[in-house]
Amino acid sequence: MNRTDAKTGGRREPGAGGIRKLIESCFSGAEVVVEVSPVIDAVDSLYPAEFSIVKKAVMSRKQEFSTGRFLARKATRLFGIPDQALLRGERGEVLWPESLVGSISHTKEWCAVVVADARDVKGIGIDIEADRFRSADAMSLILHDSELPAFERINGHQRIRELLRIFSAKEAIYKAVSGRIGRYVDFKEVCIRSTDKANQFAGSAPDDGELNELLLQGKGSGGFFNGLVVSSYIVRDSDQQ
Ligand SMILES: CC(C)(COP(=O)(O)OP(=O)(O)OC[C@H]1O[C@@H](n2cnc3c(N)ncnc32)[C@H](O)[C@@H]1OP(=O)(O)O)[C@@H](O)C(=O)NCCC(=O)NCCS
Repeated sequence: MNRTDAKTGGRREPGAGGIRKLIESCFSGAEVVVEVSPVIDAVDSLYPAEFSIVKKAVMSRKQEFSTGRFLARKATRLFGIPDQALLRGERGEVLWPESLVGSISHTKEWCAVVVADARDVKGIGIDIEADRFRSADAMSLILHDSELPAFERINGHQRIRELLRIFSAKEAIYKAVSGRIGRYVDFKEVCIRSTDKANQFAGSAPDDGELNELLLQGKGSGGFFNGLVVSSYIVRDSDQQ
């Protein structure tokens, strides 16, 4: 397989279309390229400098990483950017070409990539998660103290689902702002609030003015599809909201 012809091995994956549609709906109103595929073996399509990032990793990690780079190149080509190695920054983020912002997420099965023009978008984050919680025991690690009272009123399975939704929303936020904020942001620093528009949410950071300012310029959106939760966050200039 070379850098340009990695394929899904001819497999028909009806799920990919559904995930892609959901992600596109999350970003409606913004010019965002969305690519989704099952995780494939695109290791041969990696540039040597990319391969060295994962050369010691297990095969499944090589595959998810290579699928992400494969889809990322597919997306960046649509902006007229020639194929190039997409290396990794010090916090794990993709070093996108200067004119673009983007984000990658993978589960064991699926990979999604979103890319936008950096002149329109300050930061973008995508997160897809399969069911990863068996209980809501992790709530004190994920929720801001002010989120706990409302959360504790939710019962049963719905509580686990809500924790997954908030966890994923915060990971999408982290990916969208980490390049601008330049530091690790803990889950407990951020609050998620549902807005009055269906499936949309807003983030805030009560104890960090700079982060809070950035989050106020952002918009979150998400939903459930085939056992997955999908979350997105996009930060644009206030006058583009
Ligand atoms: C970085 C992190 C968000 C990744 O999420 P994940 O569910 O583990 O994994 P995903 O498959 O969804 O995403 C992995 C991709 O995220 C991207 N990524 C990693 N670190 C990143 C960062 N600092 N900023 C932006 N993107 C990042 C990479 O592209 C990575 O894929 P790759 O290594 O194959 O290129 C997560 O591991 C993490 O460190 N979370 C703690 C910080 C946080 O989320 N705080 C929330 C409060 S806002």
